[in-house]
Amino acid sequence: MDKYNKRVALVTGATGGLGTAMCKKLHDDGYRVVGNFRNKTKAADWIKSLQDEGYEIDTAEGDVCNYESMCAMIQDIEERIGSIDILVNNAGITRDGRFAKMTPEDWHAVIDTNLNSVYNCTRPIINGMIERNFGRIINISSVNGQRGQFGQANYSAAKAGMHGFTKTLAMEVAKYGITVNTISPGYIGTDMVMAVPEKVRDQIVAQIPVGRLGGTHEVAHLVSFLASDATSFVTGANYSINGGQHVY
Ligand code: CAA
Repeated sequence: MDKYNKRVALVTGATGGLGTAMCKKLHDDGYRVVGNFRNKTKAADWIKSLQDEGYEIDTAEGDVCNYESMCAMIQDIEERIGSIDILVNNAGITRDGRFAKMTPEDWHAVIDTNLNSVYNCTRPIINGMIERNFGRIINISSVNGQRGQFGQANYSAAKAGMHGFTKTLAMEVAKYGITVNTISPGYIGTDMVMAVPEKVRDQIVAQIPVGRLGGTHEVAHLVSFLASDATSFVTGANYSINGGQHVY
């Protein structure tokens, strides 16, 4: 909570398309929102454009791939703003390519940013949540962690790993009022998806029964649902939001 008794929500990778929508939605819902970023230049424009739209969002610089950086960032947030009640592990990248050609750099960059980050951000926060008997941890995975995707061995492995983490941590902290859940978005209209070659993307959209890419606000709505005090019996779950692309 911050000094006004508002719950504090930390969103990692806040300046991306999904992160921005989540920050706005949580802010609209009345949370004190802290957006994590790594790239100072990108963040400066991001903060300015949110302010122009009337959003007062706190920011915190730090590299999710680095445990010490996350410990320092979280300590700073807790001293400056308040204890973190909601953590959205959202930071993620792609380095797509067939596995037969995948470099160690592209493997490790994706595993570090998308999976090791979940350890680095959650570990320094979890004991405070246990002491306070409240917490919401929301891990942003992907439809491509639920199934495979040609060209994404690194990404699919990291995203599937996130849900394994969700299931175990959910069991371990359930009795402390902490819920841990995964959201698995399909293809959403973000820069990450728009970077897929147009021809390939068109073929992917053709496989989505809803007939379009998802909206970032639609994923943000689901984050808001799982962040709420009312969802205290929802834990260890994986919420698909993919327009029907992957049903099982
Ligand atoms: N299924 C079967 N074969 C495929 C294929 C597919 N889906 N995609 C490509 N191939 C085949 C091609 O037909 C071609 O075969 P031939 O050589 O026999 O003609 C071969 O693979 C091409 O391979 P290359 O190594 O030359 O690779 P490329 O430069 O053409 O690029 C790729 C391959 C990087 C996988 C490219 O197709 C691509 O970007 N695909 C999209 C991957 C994707 O969906 N990424 C999601 C990003 S967004 C995201 O991740 C968010 C989220 O959570 C959903």
